[in-house]
Amino acid sequence: MRIADSRVMVLGGRTGLLGQALTLALSRAGSTPIPLSSKDCDIVDPISVSRLLDRKDPDLLINAAAYTQVDLAEDQEELAFALNATAPPLLAAEAAKRSIPFVHYSTDFVFKGDKREPYTVYDEPGAFSVYGISKAQGERGLLTLGYEKTLIIRIAWLFGPGRTNFVEKILKLCETRDTLTVVDDQTGSPSYAPDVAENTLRLLEREATGIYHLANTGKTTWHGLAAAAVKLAGSGCSVEPVPSSAYPTKATRPAYSVLDLSRFTKKSGITPRHWRDALRDYVHNELKKGNPATS
Ligand SMILES: NC(=O)c1ccc[n+]([C@@H]2O[C@H](COP(=O)([O-])OP(=O)(O)OC[C@H]3O[C@@H](n4cnc5c(N)ncnc54)[C@H](OP(=O)(O)O)[C@@H]3O)[C@@H](O)[C@H]2O)c1
Repeated sequence: MRIADSRVMVLGGRTGLLGQALTLALSRAGSTPIPLSSKDCDIVDPISVSRLLDRKDPDLLINAAAYTQVDLAEDQEELAFALNATAPPLLAAEAAKRSIPFVHYSTDFVFKGDKREPYTVYDEPGAFSVYGISKAQGERGLLTLGYEKTLIIRIAWLFGPGRTNFVEKILKLCETRDTLTVVDDQTGSPSYAPDVAENTLRLLEREATGIYHLANTGKTTWHGLAAAAVKLAGSGCSVEPVPSSAYPTKATRPAYSVLDLSRFTKKSGITPRHWRDALRDYVHNELKKGNPATS
């Protein structure tokens, strides 16, 4: 589709980490984004979504809204499933009624984590956390609905401006501590929200549908990501590796969830930049110019 001059409704686009990056990327590309938060429209209420779609009449619907609190989801199963499993096919059905493309985001946490080579789009989900299972069910619901203009993009380990994220939390902690301990037995694909947003537009320009994986290239552990951020920020804080058992969490994360990006590269001709380059951009250009998280 042609992005310039299009009107794009972005659920999560007003307050979400990825949604805000999408809103910015769309504006830069000459589109008119319509960014929304939960206050503008509740995605678990299809009637309110339908009314808004009638009123705004967008050319594209992007769902960057979700229940994203991985540990809290273990205690709020009903809400996590309502947002992540029930809502996506209902949103896609609304897009189908209007024949407009529908973009939805999913996660590396749909995978079990027992592989030791990157997960491809052909690997079966095998999630075990409530969050991961609810996101996998959302994907399945979309595939079962079978609306042909649906694009599902799995991303991972998101960081960037606009909302609190792992990198920013680490750098804040370093302001008051000399030493931090961070887990080093989970390996994944850091994804810079502005890069995911730009690369989503590249997929849309090429009429991509089905499932894609999108992240920055390279892989690391949470410890590797934290240590790199601290070094880039010029902090003297020491970042020590520890096993996950040192930080018991309600939800178990996959030990390995690196995403294979080859389907994206084949479709777009683009190899995303390495996560270290994206991190440098974030720490040096965004955080330093005073664009910390706002919520
Ligand atoms: N963050 C990660 O590390 C990560 C990793 C892999 C995949 N993902 C996926 O990427 C997507 C974007 O994640 P994110 O981290 O950008 O999310 P986020 O920052 O937590 O933002 C979530 C957005 O959803 C909105 N929202 C929540 N409940 C809603 C409701 N009932 N109705 C309408 N909007 C509602 C929120 O609005 P309010 O501010 O008004 O609540 C917010 O704008 C999600 O699908 C997530 O599963 C994220």
